[in-house]
Amino acid sequence: MSIPLKIKPLFTESQIQSRISELAKQIDRDYAGEEVVVVSVMKGAFIFTADLVRAMSTPTKIEFIGVSSYEGTRSTGHVRISHDLTGDVTGCNVLLVEDIIDTGKTIDYLLDSLSVREPKSLKICSFLIKPEVYNMRHKIDYTCFEISKEFVVGYGLDLDNSYRGLPYLGQIIDT
Ligand code: IMP
Ligand code: MG
Repeated sequence: MSIPLKIKPLFTESQIQSRISELAKQIDRDYAGEEVVVVSVMKGAFIFTADLVRAMSTPTKIEFIGVSSYEGTRSTGHVRISHDLTGDVTGCNVLLVEDIIDTGKTIDYLLDSLSVREPKSLKICSFLIKPEVYNMRHKIDYTCFEISKEFVVGYGLDLDNSYRGLPYLGQIIDT
């Protein structure tokens, strides 16, 4: 067992939920009359995905894609697929749901991997983005919050698979 670290809250549970309900309304307007296949990026996006799809009224189907590129607080730079979609997304509206876009290597890899399957449309919804790190190579269609370079945990985001269950987003404080 590792010693619990100090965590400074950045966004509270209620701030997160009110931002998600705004974003869900925007997504509903954009997809009016269409069905969406929500592709949730494991594991970090599972809580955001659960809250987002329940706030949306657009009909959804849910898929998971598993990728891994991080060890501790640093990206290894190598993205690999650990779990692939179970359904065919050809001709579907795909909404890729991520926890955070940092360097953008993961999202670049996923966009390449999904666009070859020829969806009808392919959009990105990320709970967080670190714009100082990601140079906005692709348009990020939907995002809840922009943050600076700090490493954050909670609300699905982890440090070595811990802290995902915190209902708020926080920053680890060096003690
Ligand atoms: P990227 O490939 O560098 O954009 O990293 C994206 C992935 O790294 C995300 O899906 C997260 O799983 C992880 N990640 C990046 N920054 C953080 C952070 O601050 N906290 C927790 N996980 C992070
Ligand atoms: Mg992660």
